[in-house]
Amino acid sequence: MNDRPAHDLAANPEDASFNDSRNESFANVLSMRMSRRSLLKGAAGFAGSAIFGGSLLGCGNSDSGNDDLSLSFTAVPKGLADALIVPAGYTASVLYRLGDPINAATPESANIAGDTGSSYAFRAGDHHDGMSFFGLGASGTFDQNASDRGLLVMNHENITQLLLHTAGPTVVNGVRTIRDEVDKEVNCHGVSVVEVVRTGNAWSASRTSTFNRRITPSTEMLMSGPAAGSRFFRTKFSPDGTRTRGTINNCANGYTPWGTYLTCEENWSFYFRRSATDNAARTAAEVTALNRYGITQGSSGNYAWSSVVVTDPNDTTYSRWNASKIGASADGTDDFRNVANTYGWIVEIDPFSATSTPKKRTGMGRFFHEGSWVGPVVAGRPIVFYSGCDSRNEYVYKYVSTALWDPADATRGVVAGDKYLDAGKLYVAKFNADGSGSWVELAFGVNGITSASAAYPFADQADVLVHARLAADVVGATKMDRPEWGGVNPKNGEVYFTLTNNSQRGSTAAPLDPANPRYYTDTRGTATQRGNNNGHIIRFLPTNGDHSSAGFTWDIYLFAAQATADAAAADADYQANVNVSGLTAANDLSSPDGLWFSRVTPGLMWVETDDGAYTDVTNCMLLAALPGQLGDGGNVTIANKSVPQGTGGATVDVNMTTKVGKKVTEATLRRFLVGPKGCEITGIAESGDGKALFVNIQHPGENTTAAQLAAGTFESTWPGATATSRPRSSTIVITRNDGGKIAV
Ligand code: FEO
Ligand code: CA
Ligand code: CA
Repeated sequence: MNDRPAHDLAANPEDASFNDSRNESFANVLSMRMSRRSLLKGAAGFAGSAIFGGSLLGCGNSDSGNDDLSLSFTAVPKGLADALIVPAGYTASVLYRLGDPINAATPESANIAGDTGSSYAFRAGDHHDGMSFFGLGASGTFDQNASDRGLLVMNHENITQLLLHTAGPTVVNGVRTIRDEVDKEVNCHGVSVVEVVRTGNAWSASRTSTFNRRITPSTEMLMSGPAAGSRFFRTKFSPDGTRTRGTINNCANGYTPWGTYLTCEENWSFYFRRSATDNAARTAAEVTALNRYGITQGSSGNYAWSSVVVTDPNDTTYSRWNASKIGASADGTDDFRNVANTYGWIVEIDPFSATSTPKKRTGMGRFFHEGSWVGPVVAGRPIVFYSGCDSRNEYVYKYVSTALWDPADATRGVVAGDKYLDAGKLYVAKFNADGSGSWVELAFGVNGITSASAAYPFADQADVLVHARLAADVVGATKMDRPEWGGVNPKNGEVYFTLTNNSQRGSTAAPLDPANPRYYTDTRGTATQRGNNNGHIIRFLPTNGDHSSAGFTWDIYLFAAQATADAAAADADYQANVNVSGLTAANDLSSPDGLWFSRVTPGLMWVETDDGAYTDVTNCMLLAALPGQLGDGGNVTIANKSVPQGTGGATVDVNMTTKVGKKVTEATLRRFLVGPKGCEITGIAESGDGKALFVNIQHPGENTTAAQLAAGTFESTWPGATATSRPRSSTIVITRNDGGKIAV
C-alpha cells in the first residue's frame, strides 16, 4: 500500500506506528566481524545438497560477486504517463485482471461495478501483491523447472473501495446498508490460485483448470503450531480455539522447499471494529496488547463491515469483524473479542490441492507480516525463514525450524509444513553500531520475557507468539525504517531487506542509528517532507554462513533517492549526501518495497517501488540489479542537518557513520519498467526457464476521487481500452521478443 503523508489511517495503515517501546538503538553484543576469507572457509564445512533456495554459499569466485552477469536492456526513463513501459525488445501482456473469472460458470466482468459480490468468490480479487510461480510437471505435480505450465499463486492485499461499486460504497449513518457491496469487498481480498499456460511465446490464464481457486476472508482455516487451541483464539466461531475464517490484507509472500505457498497477513488489525468503551471491559494486559497491534478502542474497522445488519442472531458473517467484548462469557466463546488474535500470521497453502485447508503457522509469530523468505536449503540443517514487520519503527525476525532438512520431504506438501513450521524458534534482529548484529530469541522465560516484564506480563509461550511485537520490545530489537520485502542472494547467502521509508526517522520515537542513518529534507511538488522519505536496502550475512547462527554482519546496500537530491536541496537543510549510492537518471528510485532474487539467473535481483515521495516526477517502477556483496564499499558518514530534539523545537546536526556498499552504476542497477498512474509495482515471479517474468500492477488509478467517479472519469484507465474502463489491478507477463532470458 502507499505511504502518502496526507492519507488517513484506514487508507494508509503502514504510516501508523504503535511502537512506544523505549528500546535502546543498539546493544553492545560481542560479535566478531569476520573477514570474507574466514567466512567462506567456515561455510565450506556445510556440505549437502541445496535445492530451491540455492546453495549455502555459492561459487565463491571474485570479490565482485557478479562478474559473470551483465544487464542487457536499455533503461526505461521515469515518467507520469498512464501506461506500462518496458524496454525495447520486450513485450508486456495483461494476464489476470481484477474481475477475471476463474471458472467457466462465471461471466466476463461487467466493468467491475456490474458484477455481483458473490461472483468474486470465482473472480480475480483486487490489489494483486506477493506472488509465486509453481511449475506444473507432466504428472500435474510440482516441478520447479517446468516452464510451459504452472500455478500462479498471488495475494489480493486490499481494495480500492470506491471503484468496486457504481457510485462508490453505500453508507447510511455509518451502516453498510447493501450487503452485496460488503460481500464484494470481502471476496476481493485473499489469495488466487490460477493455472497459466504458455503457447509459443504467449501466456494465458486458464478459466477451466481444476487447480483454480479463490481463498477469501471466508475460507475456513486451521490454527496450527504451539499457540493452536490456546485461550487467545477462542471465539463464537471456534470455541476450542483451533479454527478461524479466512485471511486478510495479504501482502508479500513466500514459498517453501516442499512446494507450498506462504501468504502473509500485514495490516489486518485495521479491519476490526472496537467500541469506544471496550477498554473498560478488558484487562490491563489485553489493552496493552490491543494497542501495540493498533486495534484501538473506538475504531470502526476498515470499510465498516461489521455494521451490516442481519436478522438471524446466529449469523456471524459480519459481526465477526467486531472485536469488542459483547458477551458475558469469561473466555470469549460467545463473541469475537479474540478474533483479531487469529490474524497476523503466516498462512501455508497447498496450491496443488484445491480443497486443502490452509494452516496458520503460529510458531512463526504474530506481527504485521510483510512476507516470508526461506534461507538456503541444506540437507541436515534447519530451515530458516526471514520476515519483516511492516510499520514504522518495527523489526526484522527469523524463524529456525527444530527439524533438520530431509530432502525426501520436498514432495510432501503441508505434511512437511507440519514438521518444519510448527516447531522452531523465533528470533528478532539487533543491528549493532559496529556493523555486527545479533538474533535474540523470543521465548517465554528467556531474555526477560517473563510474567515480571514491565512492558507486558507474559504468561506462556503462546502469549509470546501471539504478542511477538511486545516480546521483541522487551529484548531491545532495533527499530527499522519499515521492513518490507526480503530476499536471499543464491550466489552468496546474503539476506537483503528493503526499508521502504520512515517519515518519523530522526524524531524522538525513532532516533537515528547506523542501520537507519538518514534524516533529510525532500521536496515533493510544493510540499516538504523530512525523515527518511525515500528508504534504503540493508543486507546481512550470518556468521560462518550459517543461517541458524546467532550473529551476522551487515551493511547498507543502497540508499534510495532522487538523483538530483543533493544539488536541489539549497536551503538550510542542505545535505550533500542524500544520494549516497550515486544514483543517476537511469536508476533513481524512492521507497523500495518488493525485492526478489531470480532462481534461474543467480545474482539477478529485482526491486519494486511503492512510493508516495517521488511521485511528482515518476510513477512506480521495477528495477533490475546486480548487487555486489557485503563489505564491497566502506564507511560513509551521513551528515544529517537540523535533526529535531524532543518537543522544544531545538535541532542539532547529527553525523552517522555507517557501512555502505559500493556505489551503484547503470551497469549494476537499471530501471526496467514504469507503471501506469496511481499504481504500485509489487509481486514478482518467473517461469522455470526464466524466460517469462510475472509482475503485479497494484491499484492503478487509486487516487480517483468521488467527483471523478461521478463524472465517469478515472485517474487511470489502465489496462482498459476506453476512457470509461475502470482501472484494474492486474498480473502482467513480460517476455523478450527474441525468446531469451529476462534482463541479462
Ligand atoms: Fe503491504 Fe508492506 O506493503
Ligand atoms: Ca522529491
Ligand atoms: Ca509491500
